Amino acid sequence: MDPSPTTPGMVPEVKYGSGMSIDVSAVRNHFPSLARTIDGAPLAYFDGPGGSQVPTVVADAMTHSLLHANANCGGAFATSIESDAAIEESRQAAADFTGSNADEIAFGPNATTLQYLLAHAVARTLEPGDEIITTELDHDSNVSQWLQVAADHNLVVRQARLHRTDGTLDLQHLESLLSPKTKIVAFTLASNHMGTVPPAAEIARHAHSVGALAWADGVHYAPHRLLDREAMGLDVLLTSPYKWFGPHLGIASIRHDLASSWPANRVRPADETPAGHRFETGTQSHEAMAGMTAAVDYLAGLGTGATRRERLTNAYAAIRAHEDALTLQFWDGVAEMDHLHFYGITNPERFDDRVATFSFTVEGAHPTEVAQRLAQRGMAVWDGNFYALSASVALGLEEQGGAVRVGFLHYTTPEEVDRLIGALGELG
Ligand SMILES: Cc1ncc(COP(=O)(O)O)c(C=O)c1O
Repeated sequence: MDPSPTTPGMVPEVKYGSGMSIDVSAVRNHFPSLARTIDGAPLAYFDGPGGSQVPTVVADAMTHSLLHANANCGGAFATSIESDAAIEESRQAAADFTGSNADEIAFGPNATTLQYLLAHAVARTLEPGDEIITTELDHDSNVSQWLQVAADHNLVVRQARLHRTDGTLDLQHLESLLSPKTKIVAFTLASNHMGTVPPAAEIARHAHSVGALAWADGVHYAPHRLLDREAMGLDVLLTSPYKWFGPHLGIASIRHDLASSWPANRVRPADETPAGHRFETGTQSHEAMAGMTAAVDYLAGLGTGATRRERLTNAYAAIRAHEDALTLQFWDGVAEMDHLHFYGITNPERFDDRVATFSFTVEGAHPTEVAQRLAQRGMAVWDGNFYALSASVALGLEEQGGAVRVGFLHYTTPEEVDRLIGALGELG
């Protein structure tokens, strides 16, 4: 097994799974951090929505990049040539992962920075009075950048509501906001607060029906379900590899004609730079790109198929089956606990419309206190608003310290979920 190929363009076919289901204990061996203990007890990572753990192959690929192919781009010498090849391979890996083409990919330090950069670019193509729709379900990185470019360019931002009862998007409200003035519909593929998965293809169709762009945040969706920019009908899609077992990095997939025509701020000479690359300013983190490629190959290695995209598709079916089982197990264990109040979809018949991320409050306890008590029991959970500020305000949580959030990933075990259920029961 060669986790960090030096041959340009080579995709290693490493197998981590059967392609049918997740062999959790085999998978966990690839993640050294999962063996960590706190005061003798195993540490259970329910903090995945804030960032996942990383398999050894990802760290190895980054180490290889830094120690053996560390040079800037475009040189005539070996390390620069190898570095260029690794970057091109990263573009292909990101394209395979997002369901797009390599020249539609732009890398950046994180999704938020790319959101700001691209919003500033597209705003320069809009007219005063043009409208942008955001949603209450979104992380603020897909809301605040629009408010700020709107102030700079005299644009109007409208926000689609979520249903307070079940944390789903109010699609009727979203539709009522559409008009010929709408130029962008910015929405999330999955809520990082309570796991809701809105109907992306339907929202994209609504956006296109008035000539607007469908601009999606795929950060929370990506560890749980396979992104597919083209099939979902998205024009712009963002994601962050550190949520799906890779390093800290941001990826944007931008429809080719948009990526090649939007104004980009670049150093000279810039004209011949193709498509998505136009939005990469300065030297990128080559080691993070190499780690991201390894993360995509790690995920593809959980599945079977002739191409990397096919292996990813197969792997994600297994990931989803595993996470769905954990979701039901968790819900079975906590549904009757009267001291817990859950936000988002709680009807198991509608669990297709959610991923394995739950937010809740505990009667009589501040969310931070709950997180601390779970930390004392060796469980990592987040508390607060998770930068899903609009949702936190809409649900009336902002004034009371937000909520507690737990998330399950493909390396989460049923035993860990049982531990969590037990600990939550004792908070009553
Ligand atoms: C749904 C969602 N969007 C965007 C972000 C921001 O991503 P980044 O940290 O890469 O800027 C996050 C991070 O938590 C997120 O969960």
